[in-house]
Amino acid sequence: MNDRELRLTMICDDDRPSHDERAPGDGHTRRQFLQRASCAVGALAALGLPAEVMALPISEVSGESSPASDAVQRYPIPSTDSVKIDRKNEVILVRYQGRVYAFGLWCPHQNTALNWVAGDHQFQCPKHHSKYQPTGQFISGRATRNMDRYGITKDGTSAVVDLDMIWQSDKDAAQWQAASIPA
Ligand code: FES
Repeated sequence: MNDRELRLTMICDDDRPSHDERAPGDGHTRRQFLQRASCAVGALAALGLPAEVMALPISEVSGESSPASDAVQRYPIPSTDSVKIDRKNEVILVRYQGRVYAFGLWCPHQNTALNWVAGDHQFQCPKHHSKYQPTGQFISGRATRNMDRYGITKDGTSAVVDLDMIWQSDKDAAQWQAASIPA
């Protein structure tokens, strides 16, 4: 089994998914989706790959809406480096090297759902193969900017994400740069 076969698919459809129990595009249910992620991480461990490769396990998370607005979602700050997916709200929450980031789920090129590819330690777009670091920084491909970041603030042990505030690195460079919190 090689790295490609170990690919962790967050969502593998080219189109935006419906918000139901099915992982769009590949016909897998949410349970199957998580089982695949879990199996792949286990396979990485079995191969004895470097700790950094295994450092960002993937799982699902649900945001808690603010009483004032569904556009403000609250998440527990992850206790370890990881990738968490809130499919209902289309948010990717990443804890990486002491910072927490909230990204839009979609590739900034043509809105394709991104994959977290644990073996490569990257987000990758299945449509035109753009690649991004865990910080959302663009690496290569057809996209012309980094992954879009949501506004995020820290409240105690929670990350508070404002879905009405999404920053594009080419248009909102300062806000994009500032959109992370300490873990
Ligand atoms: S849609 Fe992602 S690179 Fe084109």
